[in-house]
Amino acid sequence: MGADRHAVRAFYEDFPFPMFDREDDQNDLIALGKTLAAVRSDSVEPRQAFSKPITWLDLGCGTGEILCGIAAGLPEGSRVIGLDFTAASLELASGLARDRGFNNIEFIHGDMNDAEKLLGGTKVDVISANGSLHHTEDPETLFKQTLGLLTWKKSRYVLGLYSALARGPINRINRALMKIIPDPYDNRARLSAFKEIFLYTLQGDPDLEGLKARFGSHEAIPDQWLLDTFCHPLENAYDAADVMRWIKNTRLEFKGWLGMEPVIENARNSATARERIEAMSEDERLRLYDLLDGQRFRFWFLRQKCA
Ligand SMILES: C[S@@+](CC[C@H](N)C(=O)[O-])C[C@H]1O[C@@H](n2cnc3c(N)ncnc32)[C@H](O)[C@@H]1O
Repeated sequence: MGADRHAVRAFYEDFPFPMFDREDDQNDLIALGKTLAAVRSDSVEPRQAFSKPITWLDLGCGTGEILCGIAAGLPEGSRVIGLDFTAASLELASGLARDRGFNNIEFIHGDMNDAEKLLGGTKVDVISANGSLHHTEDPETLFKQTLGLLTWKKSRYVLGLYSALARGPINRINRALMKIIPDPYDNRARLSAFKEIFLYTLQGDPDLEGLKARFGSHEAIPDQWLLDTFCHPLENAYDAADVMRWIKNTRLEFKGWLGMEPVIENARNSATARERIEAMSEDERLRLYDLLDGQRFRFWFLRQKCA
């Protein structure tokens, strides 16, 4: 669904994301970044950071909260690079890094599609792309292209993507808004239409409920959050099996999902379900996990296959 990268860039120039004003909200995302940095290659349990300095590239770092958390979670001497094509976001991200005293973060202004050229030959140990690849025209091709940036010395990849199954209801809203305001650049009109038509009628939607709980009321939800959640000009979403196909025939393997819903763990351990699940083909099992796991956004941990 959607427009092209020019419309996406214009969208984030006007509405940099996530751009939290409150320190507590920023700290939540910084803590998430620390967790991402602490996930070991042999476990998805966040127990221990890398023991030696590494280089970490964050593609589409936005306003930098998660990036700062990653920098905080890595060993002294590590190099952290945030790349984004939105100047407004990078300005906020570098301000945040400065305010929080992270001197080991470098910023690159440019398109992920040109990452190799922009990095000028630098290879990295870990790549993260949180909520950014799914706002590009061809996320799978771009994902595969970025694998050429890895050192392949126990490399890792952290992918944050929307789940197609759980994101479905929002897709309906987004499509309706695109019919009313087809110009992908007219984000303000789409935002007004969303507020007039949906904001007070969309009861029980988990994302809207979450935003209301975080910000206190409908009116207090920042525009960039409403737009990013409900009215994005270019958004893709994936089934678990799709992402598994992305990594097939690459040097990466699936390690786990962060925040995998406990319901999946329960099903795997359930006396009633376990045997049936074990007898399923991989595709069937992944389809079941999609049904069990209601999360709209998933972090995928991928790691280099053992030689
Ligand atoms: C939803 S925001 C996510 C920000 C941050 N990663 C986070 O999770 O808080 C998506 C970001 O990806 C960036 N982005 C999207 N497409 C891009 C591209 N082709 N090249 C560089 N950055 C891109 C946008 O500018 C935006 O800052």
